Amino acid sequence: MQKEFTTSFEAIASYDHLDEAEKKLFDTAQKFREIAYAPYSNFTVGCAIMLENGEIISGSNQENAAYPSGLCAERTTIFWIGANHPNIKIKKLFVIGAPKDAVSSVPIPPCGACRQSILEYEAKQQQGIEIYFASLGGAIYKTRSIRDLLPFSFDASYL
Ligand code: THU
Repeated sequence: MQKEFTTSFEAIASYDHLDEAEKKLFDTAQKFREIAYAPYSNFTVGCAIMLENGEIISGSNQENAAYPSGLCAERTTIFWIGANHPNIKIKKLFVIGAPKDAVSSVPIPPCGACRQSILEYEAKQQQGIEIYFASLGGAIYKTRSIRDLLPFSFDASYL
């Protein structure tokens, strides 16, 4: 029997359609993208995460000459939160990625490993994390939970 998953996302037409809090997250992710350390791929990514107390924590991708030792912007940021604010819930995660010197308008979704890592914190706090992803211009895609980006997700309930 063939079965289906249904996930949904909101396509926000452009930056101008974001509310003030979302604009601040976009601006912060973009600012941190500009100082990403990505000399090998030249693909720079910024991440801005809003906590339930309103604080915004940011990060960028950090590459390494031994390539697999580098880390994506989302995990750089969310692991820092896990280490420094383990008891504060995460409300929103905003990620912006694009080739360093190119203008791109295709929303860049979090990679699989980042989705799995975000899921861990969403499950831990038992509350959805809103995920926004974008490039420099164009549309911004939003989901209500990381589970919308990770059907058949593996979590601690299977252990
Ligand atoms: N990258 C991220 O920072 N986040 C993602 O979700 C996708 C990929 C980074 C990793 C690497 O530094 C560069 O983008 C190219 O893959």
